[in-house]
Amino acid sequence: MSDLRASWLERIGGASDEATLEEVRVAALGKKGEVSLKMRELGKMTPEERQTAGPALNALKDELNAALGARKASLADAALEERLKSEWLDMSLSPRPVRAGTIHPISQVTEEVTAIFADMGFAVAEGPQIETDWYNFDALNIPGHHPARAEMDTFYMSRKEGDNRPPHVLRTHTSPVQIRSLEASGAPTRIICPGRVYRADYDQTHTPMFHQIEGLAIDSDISMANLKWVLEEFFTAYFGTKVNTRFRASHFPFTEPSAEVDIQCSWVDGQVRVGEGDGWLEVLGSGMVHPNVLRAAGVDPDEWQGFAFGMGIDRIAMLKYGIPDLRAFFDSDLRWLRNYGFASLDMPTVHGGMSGAA
Ligand code: PHE
Repeated sequence: MSDLRASWLERIGGASDEATLEEVRVAALGKKGEVSLKMRELGKMTPEERQTAGPALNALKDELNAALGARKASLADAALEERLKSEWLDMSLSPRPVRAGTIHPISQVTEEVTAIFADMGFAVAEGPQIETDWYNFDALNIPGHHPARAEMDTFYMSRKEGDNRPPHVLRTHTSPVQIRSLEASGAPTRIICPGRVYRADYDQTHTPMFHQIEGLAIDSDISMANLKWVLEEFFTAYFGTKVNTRFRASHFPFTEPSAEVDIQCSWVDGQVRVGEGDGWLEVLGSGMVHPNVLRAAGVDPDEWQGFAFGMGIDRIAMLKYGIPDLRAFFDSDLRWLRNYGFASLDMPTVHGGMSGAA
């Protein structure tokens, strides 16, 4: 019996992995294991023999079970130890820098402009980028034969052979939103409409898609004087410095009278400085909304009047942030944006002045 004990304890202690240990367990204590067979022989013994062999075998069985458990635990510990040694992580290694995104300057400027006009009571309106030629042209007093249609380098959507309806266009300006929002809410109204517009044109100062912001104020007695005040108030808040404007007589089919508006600036070392000097830079078209436009939108021109303007967002973003080439906005490589440190919360307001946007 003591030989039996010594030999099994030795085999348990010598098992070098869990699979071998399991084989040892089956060979000793399994159904046909050596120790189990010995216990079965108890029945053939005399009562006297059984009295000593029984408890001894039971004790042996318990001891072997305990030894198996202990060996199993120490093999698991050793395996873990081995893994920890081979798979170590160096927690002292400094992390790779995570690239933080920045907001696109067009988005930021759109937010800035919207916040300034919101302070003056203008709500935001939007319209579709694929327009009918009614909204893009006819309703804005640009009839079919008008040269403005050709001048605007319009992208036309193609129609199926035999479909003779007038084509849809990619809107060439945000002015159609004037009509849509007057139709929806009538007069009086005060809205701005920021959004994408499209013209077939591409060079340093033109991209086929660009951004405009339309303004529209209609009431019983709105005048050009209100337009001038609103624009100067806007530019002063936007550029963070007093900006004078110059109105030049112009022509748009949808306004009468019409004016192109310049802002005061100077050029120093090839860089534009807004709000100083005696140079002028054109930034928008504007005028008093033409009675035909009001009528097309279902508003009575004998009762209501007001101004409209359309401004290039890309242009004023370039001016504020000193970006020289319009195409930079739409390049796929936007690493240059980091130079300008755009953040989403730099919001100037009319009455609070610039809040850290410079
Ligand atoms: N829609 C004109 C353009 O794109 C700008 C404009 C808007 C002019 C409103 C007058 C009034 O050039």
